[in-house]
Amino acid sequence: MVDIQPTPVADNSKGSTSRSITVRRLAPALGGEVTGIDLAEADEAMAAEVQALLLEHKVLFFPGQNLTVDQHVAFGHLMGPLEGHPNLKNAYSDHPEIFELAASKGGIADEWHTDLTFMPNPSVMSILNMVTCPEVGGDTMWTSLSAAYDELSPPMKELCDGLTALHDAHPHDRADSMATHPMVRVHPQTGERCLYVNQHFTRRIVEMSAEESDVLLRHLTHYVANNRFTVRYRWTPGTIAIWDNRCTQHHVLNDFEGERLIQRVTVMGDVVEGNPPRWPRWEGATRQGATSRFDRQLNRYLAEHEGIEAPVNQHNSRD
Ligand SMILES: [Fe+2]
Repeated sequence: MVDIQPTPVADNSKGSTSRSITVRRLAPALGGEVTGIDLAEADEAMAAEVQALLLEHKVLFFPGQNLTVDQHVAFGHLMGPLEGHPNLKNAYSDHPEIFELAASKGGIADEWHTDLTFMPNPSVMSILNMVTCPEVGGDTMWTSLSAAYDELSPPMKELCDGLTALHDAHPHDRADSMATHPMVRVHPQTGERCLYVNQHFTRRIVEMSAEESDVLLRHLTHYVANNRFTVRYRWTPGTIAIWDNRCTQHHVLNDFEGERLIQRVTVMGDVVEGNPPRWPRWEGATRQGATSRFDRQLNRYLAEHEGIEAPVNQHNSRD
């Protein structure tokens, strides 16, 4: 369990140590900066040590690594089986596992999100190489979803524990790429309960009407960004960052000019564990008769994934 209580600054420098590795905690909720390690020389024992640190800190930063693409991919393979990005183009034909994102050639992820939650098995962890970054601006923030869950009131915990939500890849212009997940995810290694909805990809609570879903999602996706749960990192070129997608969200601050180039490998996803829904699906999504336009996407998902046909007249309704 991560200690989310504020720790005096003097204690933050202690961190965990092994061989010459030092971890400096960056915020009470999550985040550790690791020095005294050369990821280019990583072996299985070192990867296991990094994985243990990741469970403790949720996001790790390794400044001054300056890994080549080959070294980055090799380290990624030590951390787990890699997968390519389903929707973004890969500039490296030799390495289908890596993808590159340049701010000058497209958007940045400036909304809070967990990577790839529109997939049935969202990635376990992301390993990012900050190749080029502006001298100032373009920081990234992470938030701890277990800290966020822990601070919910008991009735809100009970409600969220019994709900599921629909996620889609609309930000990648692939709204047809969808998945449903429990709104509270249980981390398979730490057992922590994590609030698993995000502003970028979560569209709809399956068991609620569209209006109710909007109200609750707007609250929760705003709530997870509370400063108490977050860490903000100022980049330097050559830094490697690793984050656990099962218990964090992140977003980039869109406050910079100039080149910001990242390369990322992603460790293949696992099963999202959580409670089964306590209530049936929202009936308005499946009943015969007039169908709200807000229910169409949910109907489509249910028809494709659970064999529940949408009402015949839903496609005739145009606003
Ligand atoms: Fe991301």
